[in-house]
Amino acid sequence: MKVLIVYYSLYGHVARMAQAIAEGAKGVSGAEVVVRRVPETLPPEVIEKMGAAEAQKSLSQVPVCTLDELASADAVIFGTPTRFGMMCGQMRQFLDSTGQLWMKGSLVGKVGSVFTCTGTQHGGQESTVLSFHVTLLHQGMIVVGLPYSFAGQSIMSEITGGSPYGAGTIAGGKGDRMPSENELAGARFQGKHVAAIAAKLA
Ligand SMILES: Cc1cc2nc3c(=O)[nH]c(=O)nc-3n(C[C@H](O)[C@H](O)[C@H](O)COP(=O)(O)O)c2cc1C
Repeated sequence: MKVLIVYYSLYGHVARMAQAIAEGAKGVSGAEVVVRRVPETLPPEVIEKMGAAEAQKSLSQVPVCTLDELASADAVIFGTPTRFGMMCGQMRQFLDSTGQLWMKGSLVGKVGSVFTCTGTQHGGQESTVLSFHVTLLHQGMIVVGLPYSFAGQSIMSEITGGSPYGAGTIAGGKGDRMPSENELAGARFQGKHVAAIAAKLA
C-alpha cells in the first residue's frame, strides 16, 4: 500500500509538516511512504528576492513528483502553502498537468487529503484546504481530513493551526515560526489516519 506525500514549500514550513505526515503514515503496517515535491515555476531571481534562495538549496533536493507516481499511489496527501487564501500556483500548475490521469480515471477511488500553512492565524487555512478538495473530488478521490479524534484539534491553551479539513501550521508574518508540537502531532495523526484508511481500502 503506497502513500504518496506531494507538496510545495518555499521556506520550509510545509516541508516540515510533510515530514511529520510521513512519520504518521509510516506508523501503519505495510505502508510504503514516498515524499515528493511539485515543480518550481518561479525564476531563480524571484526566489532570491523573496528571500528563499538559502532555504531552496536543501528543499529543492527532494525529487519532483511524476504523474506515474500519482497513478500508482493508493493515497495521496498534498501539502501547499496558502496564497491569497488558496493553494499556491506551483501546486495548481501541477494539478493542471494531471488531465490525462483524469481522462483515464487513474485517481478514482484513491484517498486524497490536504494540509497547509498560512502566514497568519486567520489567513485562509480552511479555504485553502476546502478549495483544494474540489480538485480531488473531480478526480474521483475519497477525501479524508483531520478528525476531532485528534485531541489537539480542540486545544485552547495556545495558538495552533489545523482544522477538521486538514493539518496546518502558522509561519508568522515574517515566516519565523516553525510548526509547533501540536501542529506536528496533527500532521502525524493525518498521515496515520490516511494510511490506515488506504490500507483498509487496499
Ligand atoms: C504571494 C503570497 C501570498 C500569500 N497569501 C497568504 C494568505 O492569503 N494568507 C496567509 O496567511 N499567508 C499568506 N502567505 C504566506 C504564506 O502562506 C507562507 O509564507 C507559507 O505558508 C509558508 O510556507 P512555506 O515555508 O512552506 O513556503 C502568502 C505568501 C505569498 C508569498
